[in-house]
Formats: sequence, structure tokens, C-alpha cells
Amino acid sequence: HYSRLVLGIETSCDDTGAAVLDETGTILGESLYSQKEVHLRTGGIIPTVAQQLHRESIEVVVHEALERSGVAPSQLSAVATTVKPGLALSLGIGLEFSKKFVRKHNKPFIPIHHMEAHALTIRMLQPVPFPFLVLLVSGGHSLLAVARGVDDFLHLGHTLDEAPGDTLDKVARRLSLTKHPNCSTLSGGQAIELLARSGDRRKFPFRTPMGRIYDCCFSFAGLRSQITMSIMKKEAEEGIEQGTLLSCVNDIAAATQHTVAVHLAKRTHRAILFCKENGLLSSEDPILVMSGGVASNQYIRKTLTVLTEKTGLRLLCPPPRFCTDNGVMIAWNGVERLREGKGILSPNEDVCYEPKAP
Ligand code: KG4
Ligand code: ZN
Repeated sequence: HYSRLVLGIETSCDDTGAAVLDETGTILGESLYSQKEVHLRTGGIIPTVAQQLHRESIEVVVHEALERSGVAPSQLSAVATTVKPGLALSLGIGLEFSKKFVRKHNKPFIPIHHMEAHALTIRMLQPVPFPFLVLLVSGGHSLLAVARGVDDFLHLGHTLDEAPGDTLDKVARRLSLTKHPNCSTLSGGQAIELLARSGDRRKFPFRTPMGRIYDCCFSFAGLRSQITMSIMKKEAEEGIEQGTLLSCVNDIAAATQHTVAVHLAKRTHRAILFCKENGLLSSEDPILVMSGGVASNQYIRKTLTVLTEKTGLRLLCPPPRFCTDNGVMIAWNGVERLREGKGILSPNEDVCYEPKAP
């Protein structure tokens, strides 16, 4: 290999991921162990369980990624690992493993900010010059920022309470969607997307959050109360137990998905206007990148497409497998930082380095 090679490691939430990339973004080897099925059974992520599962799989996952790539540890140029944000216990496993690994093989270490990695993934797939607007929506985050450089983000807004993926997961759990046909192995967001296809959103006209607050932040907790109240009302009307509603689950799913999509679009619209007023984006080819687990939702993508077409932006989303957590995006972030010589630690240096939050 003439190109520099980076090993990326991700353990911030419920996926143990590793990948080896070359400098051009070619994936030489990848491995991904998802804990989603375990967490679906317990009705949510229990941090100590997540930690134990990461501990059990980290070595296998990294070994698999290296083996599939045909790259020996000695050939690596650096190791990049998510250090924040995420579940502290989960992050700890990846960090501990990586520190030992870089010391043993005497390799530079690149601490990675998980949201920076989500934001930059698109640049691995196609040329996207800075600056661009980025909307990151996942189970743990929702934020709007202008990406001005690999480690230079202008923060525009974030969620004031919960993230949209969290809302979708909780609504799905409240409706016991894992018991529905074809939904048993799907995440909450995926189950809602599937059921929404055959639902009528107009049967549940939920209010879009933050109608009178003119900034770029998000809020989903109030919407979730509206949804829960509607579910409770229906359960009472039918005289059935909590979580056994069948009659209008598709309609609730459709209305939930629609309201989340509209809220995301409205707040992003404000961000676009702000960027235009202040000349923060390219005037020839302004771009909106959307990523994170929730960005794999086709309905949300279509809604954001309507917005970008109206405002003259180009919407770019990585394909679903690169929207959710994986080791590839961490390795790519490592490549980007390695190229620019930013935030690279020597093997024995402690991670007191704080990557800037987008
Ligand atoms: O980025 P990700 O894998 O992990 C976090 O960093 O949170 O995102 C996972 C989240 C979950 O909340 C899941 O319900 C949501 O993304 N999600 C979706 C879809 N696929 C995953 N939400 C809506 N529609 C989908 N198709
Ligand atoms: Zn993520």
C-alpha cells in the first residue's frame, strides 16, 4: 500500500464497529457487531449490559476488520477511536482497547468526536467542499451546524430535551411495535417508518413543536406527550391494556413520522435563512448534509428534499448503512485529521485532548 492506512474504532453506544480505510476512503476491511436485538428485548439500552457486550466483542471486531483488510497492525499509519460523546461505559471499552493497541504497536492515536464523524462521512463518498450546513439526527443527538473545516464547526442549534431517534424509539416501545409482523428486529425508527407506509397521518393531527420560538433548536418531549396522550385515549376508548393497541397504530406511526419530519424541516429552514443572511454557505452550490440514524428515514429525506428544492440547496445524505453508527466513519474522520495533521497524539500521550463539538 502506498496510501496511509487508518484503523477506526467505534463503541459510543450499542454498536461495536471497526474498519480499515486507506487515504482515499476505500474500505479495505470492516466489522460491525450490533447489540440492537439484545436492547430491544430489555426495552432500552442498559449501560452496564452495553459495556459488557462491547467488552466481549471488541477484540474480535478489530481482529476481523484487520484480517478482512489484509493489513497488519504494523502497516497502519494511525488508530482513530470515538472518545465522545456517548455512553461513558461504552466509550471506555473502545478507549481502553485503543490505548493498549497503540502502545503495543507504537502507532499515533486520533481521538474522534462522534458527531464530527457523522458530519464528515459524506466526504468519504463524494467530494463535498467546506463549508456546508449539516443536520445530524440520531438516537442520542439532534443538531444543526455549519461545517467550515475538518475540526471547525459553527453550532447553530441542538435539541432542548430528547433526540428524534429517542422519541421514535420510545413511541415504538409504548406501542409494543416489536410484537408487530415484520417489526421484531427493527429499531423503533425503522418500525415506525414501515408501519407509517400504510397509515393515514391526518387521523392524528399532532402540533409541530416550538411554533413560536424563532431559533434553530429542537424539542421532541412535548410531541411525545401529545402522542402518548392520544395512545392512552384510544386504549381507554377500546377498553384495552396498555401497549396492546392495534386498530390505528399505522396512523399514529404516520402522524409521528410526519410531525418529526416537519419539525426537522422547519428548524432547518431557519438555519438556511440564517446562513444565507450571513453568507455562511457557498453562493454557487449551497449544500445541506443530513446524517445520523434518523436520516436513513425515506419520508424524512423526502420532506427535507422539498425544503432544499424550495431554498435552492442540494441535499446530500449518506446511504442508510453509513448514517447509523459504524467503524468506517470513525476511520474516515481519522483520515481527514491525519491529512491535516490535526489532533494526532503519540502512542503514550494521554487523551486530555477535547475534540471540539460540532
Ligand atoms: O446514529 P445511530 O445509529 O446511533 C446513535 O448515535 O444514536 O442512530 C440510531 C437511531 C435510533 O433511535 C433509531 O430508531 C433511529 O436512529 N433510526 C431511524 C431509522 N433507522 C434508525 N429513525 C427513523 N427512521 C429510520 N429508518
Ligand atoms: Zn451516531
